[in-house]
This record gives sequence, structure tokens and C-alpha cells, in this order.
Amino acid sequence: MCGIVGYVGGKQAQSVVIEGLRRLEYRGYDSAGIALVDSSTGTGQIACAKRAGKLANLEKALGEVALPESSTGIGHTRWATHGAPNDQNAHPHLGQQARVALVHNGIVENFASLRAELESAGHEMTSETDTEVAAHLLEREVQTGADLTTAMQRVCQRLEGAFTLVAVDGQDPDRVVAARRNSPLVVGIGEGENFIGSDVAAFIEHTREALELGQDQVVTITRDGVAVTGFDGTPTEGTRYHVDWDLSAAEKDGYDWFMRKEIFEQPSAVQDAMLGRHDASGRLQLDEVRISDGELREIDKIVIVACGTSNYAGLVAKYAIEHWTRIPCEVELSHEFRYRDPILTRNTLVVAMSQSGETADTLMAIRHAKEQGSRVLAICNTNGSTIPRESDAVIYTHAGPEIGVASTKGFLTQLIACYLLGLYLAQVRGTKFGDEIALVVAELEKMPEHVQTVLDDAEKIYALAAKHSKTKSVLFLGRHTGFPVALEGALKLKELAYIHAEGFAAGELKHGPIALIEEGLPVFCVVPPEGRDELRQKMISAIQEIRARGAYTIVLVEEGDDSIVPYADELIRLPRVPTLLQPVVAVVPLQLFACELATRMGHDVDQPRNLAKSVTVE
Ligand code: F6R
Repeated sequence: MCGIVGYVGGKQAQSVVIEGLRRLEYRGYDSAGIALVDSSTGTGQIACAKRAGKLANLEKALGEVALPESSTGIGHTRWATHGAPNDQNAHPHLGQQARVALVHNGIVENFASLRAELESAGHEMTSETDTEVAAHLLEREVQTGADLTTAMQRVCQRLEGAFTLVAVDGQDPDRVVAARRNSPLVVGIGEGENFIGSDVAAFIEHTREALELGQDQVVTITRDGVAVTGFDGTPTEGTRYHVDWDLSAAEKDGYDWFMRKEIFEQPSAVQDAMLGRHDASGRLQLDEVRISDGELREIDKIVIVACGTSNYAGLVAKYAIEHWTRIPCEVELSHEFRYRDPILTRNTLVVAMSQSGETADTLMAIRHAKEQGSRVLAICNTNGSTIPRESDAVIYTHAGPEIGVASTKGFLTQLIACYLLGLYLAQVRGTKFGDEIALVVAELEKMPEHVQTVLDDAEKIYALAAKHSKTKSVLFLGRHTGFPVALEGALKLKELAYIHAEGFAAGELKHGPIALIEEGLPVFCVVPPEGRDELRQKMISAIQEIRARGAYTIVLVEEGDDSIVPYADELIRLPRVPTLLQPVVAVVPLQLFACELATRMGHDVDQPRNLAKSVTVE
């Protein structure tokens, strides 16, 4: 939520910052702004421009009124929390004398009392934001003679909540200072230039060398240096790493949307998620799971905590993990888990599933679990993000950057990571024989090819979307692992096409939802593979029942299963795979459908209204 950029170096800061914001816009797009240190006049003033709406509005404004040349600047793209998304509330915010400019991601929880304190001292606020108080406090500190770094340390000690702050001081033109608590921040290390970003996409064009910061740290960048301290001023060091993807991964590459590109990247993403994680005999080697075999054998409960799409990946994982390991596995929304006093012990393994690794609800959930003594394992796509950093172990999903707000390849690779985890636990605990595990691994190895087969039929799904482009409501039905697929299909449609969409367990139909069925209502139905005939037969009955009541049935069924043909208004063929793995192929047509329907409705698929890619506030 919110993208922040900082730059100091030999280039034009305006273009570096704007380009960085363009790559971070998926994090929030309610407004955008930039502040540059005006080194031309020597007045110690900041030049600032900000506009409500997307980055394009800011760029238009900058085209009309140019900012001065500068080699030091900060920028922000906002997902509004405090105050409406208008020009006044847009970041950067300035101090009372406009000497300091500051951008912020997060929420300053004690802003009301700080604001009252500042106002009683004669400060005038121009916005409704929590951020502006931090700008005023910071400027008040530099006015007393503190340098910007010391001022930032002092201010951070007074703030409560979650925040990443980045600031410049007009009278200290070669320095950008940033701070983080519970919110993402990385440093990009260049030559004769350095960068700040919410994530590495902000500077990937310039450098792939990055520095990960810890909790409650302040970083100062100049052209030639990076210095890190704690909020109390104690010098410390960040963790340096090399970013293993390049600029092309952050480009649309000829696709109309990042989302569509990411859907089509899924065969290689799934392959990468498997890479190096088993040997030729199918024996799993998850070296990164730094929890000893002894401890893994003692686990008596698994709790998966996650939100949104990641939660649905967790629901699929439950079927597989319980089946292979016989360990009870609960799946819970992180925000519900955290506040209901869950029963956790030292033998509970909490699995935190998060594409971004920054979801505040999930972060709070794992902190709570750790306080109770439980082991925490993260399944995450973002290197160096907060959730894996605070976990005992991590399985990275290696999907590459996911920029479309709606998660696609993030979901598929989470599924793969869950299957690997389940099989690994079965291997360590001996609940499955090696050859049984090898058989599943062999099936997983075929997944990239199967996903490609589904993608090869994309035109058929697009035609279906064209046919239903005026629909106001769509239902999704599934059983067993098809149930989370139904939930995910509905979520994709809600968030992208803004229409009523719901996913149901097919067995639940007669307990209420069947009342929704009316003439012509499109209903996607995920039919379990023939290997699970008891499930499949029940699903077929459900399809007959809704069709008899007028539903337009769009049936996802495996290749060669023709028993359903008489009851399907449309058929989508899926490759033949085991039931537990079916979500990997079954969800892909639903992603394509949502992407295409939203495109036809004229919506911005990559930046759906009211949403942001990583939800860094609770
Ligand atoms: C939906 C979507 C969201 C995220 C959720 C959790 O397409 O992307 O529902 O899945 O906000 O995000 P992460 O996985 O980053 O914790």
C-alpha cells in the first residue's frame, strides 16, 4: 500500500523518481507526488508537485509547470487511509516552513495527539493526513540544528503504528533519509547514486544490488554512501543481496496488462517453483526449511494463516497436507486468527502464506504465533520482505515479480510450495513411502506442460467472456479442492469486473444458495477428476439440479470425461491430473475469464478500483 521512492545521484531526480513511481503504481493509485531539492536557487526550499488520481495526472501537471533541475528527490503513489484522495492529502507533505518534504506508507496511530500538540504550538496543517504531522515534527527537529538523520531518529521514537518514511531537507541537498517500522523499505545501491524504494521494482532499471533493512531502522543515502542506524542512533548494518530478476520482468512485454502477462508466465513460474527441490529419484530436498527433522516430527497441528487469494491457496493445501501427513491442518484468515486467542503450542507449525510478504494482517498473526512459542514457516514470493524475515523458515515461490494487483502466478506457485511442503513433511515423518512421494513429484513435474495446454485454449475462454460481457452476476461451484478454486474464481471476478460473484461448495447448494439460480445465470462448475468418482457423481447431480432451474452451466471437466456433456452449456476441458493437484489447472480458465471480462467492460485490470497490491495496514 503506497509506493515510495527516493533518489540521490548524478541523474535528473525527477525522471528517476517518476519512473520509479510508474513501477510502484500497482501499490496504490489514489494520488501521486514528487518533491525535489531545488539546488539551483540555494534558497533551501523544496519544489513539490502532487495530484489526485493516477500518476498520469501528475505527469501532465509536470508537463505544464516544470520543476527545477535537481539530483535529489522523493516521490509517492498513494492508497488513501487518512483523508480523501485529493490534491491536499496527496504526498509529499511539507513542514511549516516548506524546508522538509516527507512521504509515508502506513498509519501513524497517535497522529491525533501529535497534531494537537503541533497546532497548540502554532503549526498549521493543510491536509487531513496522519503524515503531515511527521513532516512538521521532522522540520521542527532540523530547525533546532539537528541533521536530517538525527531528526528522523528522534521523530520515529515518537511515532506509533506502521510506517515507512522518506524525507529530504532543502538545506541539505545531497541526502535522503528513510525509516521503517512494520512497513516495507529497500535500498538500491548504485555507483555514484543510491535509491530508496518500497520494493526493488522502484530502481531495478538502475541497479540490482539491494540492501534489506531491519525493523525500526533509519537509513541515510548520499551519492556515495549508505548508513544505517537504529531509531536510537546506534549504527547497524542492513543485509545486502542481489536481485535475481531484471527490468524485463517489470515490463508488460507486449501484453495489454501485467495480469495477462503473468497468467501466461505461469508454466515457467510453476517450473521455477519446483526447481532444485527434489532429486532424480523424487526425494524432496527443501534445504531452506531450517526447522530440524526432529522438530518437524513433533508437530501436532498446522495452521495456515493468509488473506485473500493466499488464503484460498491455503484451503487447497489443507486437503493435500492432511491427506499426505495426517497432521490436522487449519486454515484461517490472518485477521480473524490474530484476535480470537487461537490455541497454539510449541508443536504447532504456523504457515504464513503471502505473495508480497508484507501483508500487515499476516505479519501480526505470525508475531502472535511466535509469542505463543509456535514455529513459523513463510511461503512467500518476495525476497527479503518482512514476513519471511520474521519467520523461522521460508519457502520462496520464485514466481518473479507480480505486478498486476490480482494475484495469478503468485497463487499457482503458492500451491506448488504447499504441495512440496506437504510431501516433505510426509517424507520426514514417514507417512508416505518414498515411491508414493515420487509419483506425486512426477505429476507435479508435468504441471508446467498442463498449464500451457490450458493457456493454449485461451481464445475459447475469451469468446466466453465476450458472450457474458453484460452479465451482472456469476456463480462458481466446486467440491473438495474444487471449492477453493470456486472461491478464487469468484474473487477474481469481483475485484476485476466489479460484479456480483460468489463461490460455493456444491454440497451447500441445497442449503440455501440454489435460491439464487435463475434463468440464464452463468455458473462455472469444477468437476472432480474421474479418479474421485464419489465426488464427481455428486458434482454432476448438482449441475443437473441447477440446469433444471435455468442456470447456464459452464463446466470445467477433465479431458475424456464425456458423462457431463449433456448437462453443459459450455465445456472447458482440463488436462487429466490427480484431484489434489487439479486446482493448478482448474483456476487458469477462471483467471483468463476475469481478465478478459474486465477488459471488455473497460476496466483497468492491473489497477482495479479501491485496491492496492500489498496491504500493509491492518
Ligand atoms: C487477490 C489478491 C489479494 C491477496 C491478499 C494477500 O487477487 O491479490 O486477495 O491475495 O491481499 O496478499 P499477500 O499474498 O501478498 O499476503
